Amino acid sequence: MNLLIYGPPGSGKGTQAELLHQAFDIPHISTGDILRGEVGAGTELGLKAQPIMAAGGYVPDDIMIGIIRNRLQQGDSAKGFVIDGFPRTIPQAEALDSLLNKELGRRFDRAIYLNVETPELVRRLAGRMTCPADQKTYPPGTERCPLDGARLIQREDDKPEAVKKRIEVYLEKTLPLLDYYQRQGLVSEVDGVGTILEIHKRVLAALGQSAEVAES
Ligand code: AP5
Ligand code: MG
Repeated sequence: MNLLIYGPPGSGKGTQAELLHQAFDIPHISTGDILRGEVGAGTELGLKAQPIMAAGGYVPDDIMIGIIRNRLQQGDSAKGFVIDGFPRTIPQAEALDSLLNKELGRRFDRAIYLNVETPELVRRLAGRMTCPADQKTYPPGTERCPLDGARLIQREDDKPEAVKKRIEVYLEKTLPLLDYYQRQGLVSEVDGVGTILEIHKRVLAALGQSAEVAES
């Protein structure tokens, strides 16, 4: 299953993509996580991306397209994938179509759009906690990572000014992609407000899968 999970910052893309990874045993490809890995490792790319991300802006398209091309060519995505955080601009979407259709002979099965209004996004991001080791995110109030026990931190771009900027940039550059994928008949809109499990079940239903997959 080749999936794209799409939505504004804080809509739950990472949370739901992780559940799809577990349900279908397909890799969760998050460009935000890849970039944070580069920042953490202090690579040339990481040094370039860090100030852009901290301010809530977008890393240039050519860099992002190179990242996704490398990632999709790795063997683990041969049986499917769930991409979270890419594409974010029309040039990225066109490059991904060309990469999938022409170079890899693949196509998307569905683009899941998680619809959440701005006040709820701000509320979620302001309190979100992130594991410094694997970047997984946890709801407000969680102090330690349930997987490795590490003390959770606040992401630099979850500070109020950066959150405001991220939402503005999303509305300007990324929201137009909804129309781009709707014209291809690929979008399933899912109400992103409710419990994490409720939303997972809505996502599975949009994919034509029964909820038993989630609970097995
Ligand atoms: P990225 O890491 O992709 O950030 P984002 O799109 O801003 O999205 P988030 O990760 O903040 O939110 P999410 O939708 O994953 O929500 P989550 O599941 O964590 O990108 C970061 C930066 O990298 C970008 O700003 C940009 O600089 C750069 N970048 C990345 N890709 C790029 C690209 N393609 N082009 C250019 N630049 C790029 O959930 C949020 C919180 O809510 C969590 O605390 C979670 O526990 C909680 N939560 C989840 N579900 C629920 C629920 N149902 N109810 C209540 N709380 C919930
Ligand atoms: Mg995320």
